[in-house]
Amino acid sequence: MPSLAVVGLQWGDEGKGKVVDALTAEADLVCRYGGGANAGHTVCVGSERFVLHLVPSGILHPDKRCVIGNGVVVDPDGLLGELQALRERGIAVSPERLALSERAHLVMPYHVALDRLREERAGAQRLGTTGRGIGPCYTDKTARVGIHAGALRDRARFERRLQAALRDKAELLGRVAPEAVDPARLLAALDRWQQLVPYLADTVALVHQALDAGERVLFEGAQGALLDVDLGTYPYVTSCNAGIGGLCAGTGVPPNRVDRVLGVAKAYMTRVGRGPMPTELPDRTGAALRERGEEYGATTGRPRRCGWLDLVATRHAVRFCGIDAVCLTKLDVLSGFSEIRVAVAYRLGGRVIETMPADAEELAACEPVYETLAGWAEPIAEVTREEELPPAARDYVAFVEARLGARIAWLSVGRRRDQLICRGEAGPWTGA
Ligand code: IMP
Repeated sequence: MPSLAVVGLQWGDEGKGKVVDALTAEADLVCRYGGGANAGHTVCVGSERFVLHLVPSGILHPDKRCVIGNGVVVDPDGLLGELQALRERGIAVSPERLALSERAHLVMPYHVALDRLREERAGAQRLGTTGRGIGPCYTDKTARVGIHAGALRDRARFERRLQAALRDKAELLGRVAPEAVDPARLLAALDRWQQLVPYLADTVALVHQALDAGERVLFEGAQGALLDVDLGTYPYVTSCNAGIGGLCAGTGVPPNRVDRVLGVAKAYMTRVGRGPMPTELPDRTGAALRERGEEYGATTGRPRRCGWLDLVATRHAVRFCGIDAVCLTKLDVLSGFSEIRVAVAYRLGGRVIETMPADAEELAACEPVYETLAGWAEPIAEVTREEELPPAARDYVAFVEARLGARIAWLSVGRRRDQLICRGEAGPWTGA
């Protein structure tokens, strides 16, 4: 039985939540491998809308098991709040259904305070983070003063780890957020956080056992590949490997056990926070994309920056993520534009280039080289077969596919689970 990874190919918010939710119907186990509560996965089931930040969206299917892998950074209060919200909506999440890696790092209140302080102090040079403590938590992990979720099991061990972590924090935060570095307060919170102990597990063994038993395992990426700390638009990135590289490190599953990689790309670009975005449209067309696509952050509510599809950037992600097939999402949002543009190259200092510069300042200086395609007027949200799409919509998909370097296997035309058009016979699990 195959295992399948789902990776966002842009700056996040590509609609992975819905795709993962649809694929979960055929999975036994869903595993998240990176990021934290900076992610916001929106899933609509019937008339109900769920926004999940840490719990894999597979939890909305009653018979599936979910794993929060070791690469995820977990805010204990955030996770407890999410479990409570699910419970209130009739979804009981038992430890049989959700396993939290004992190696996952905890996002502590001082990480959140540091994230906000650094952003505030950076002024015009701020990154525009989600303010969820993600960067400082990964920094502590790499600096070897992070706290594993497994430490929640043992008060004395937790206290020792906390002492090590707090060593340099009081200086920075003592005056601005004293409560965030107050050991007594943090230890008092431990009583609450210990509610997570029943969920702790050796998830490396658990996922390998599932693979050995021939179960279908779905790996759910968070954010998008262009936010990858190594291969994204550094420094305007998140602090982990949001591309495929994060999967192996963030689950303990080696690359030769990942059978297929499905990329999710939006039919246009969006970005939240700062950083270069060559095709950004700070005009009425961008505003129209934002309104029609309801482009407001699921985590922070911030309006997303919108622009035409950037094939240079998206192709870069397809390449380094080893994408077998793509789901192109939000195609319905493009209905009603008389013409649609797609960036196929950049112009930089008098040269035309087809690859993405590594330096953020160079990327910001790039001007897109556009191809202009015909638009279509008809709404397509209820179309269920590719043949029923307006010819201009089909041409758009064919154009994108030809230049992306990967087969477009699915088109998403709305929020609902059933608003997915399958192209060709092969499903994402089986490939071909
Ligand atoms: P951080 O991950 O909160 O440190 O934020 C770093 C950058 O990544 C900012 O530009 C955020 O807006 C962006 N970011 C982080 N998570 C997501 C996400 O799930 N979707 C879209 N952008 C994100």
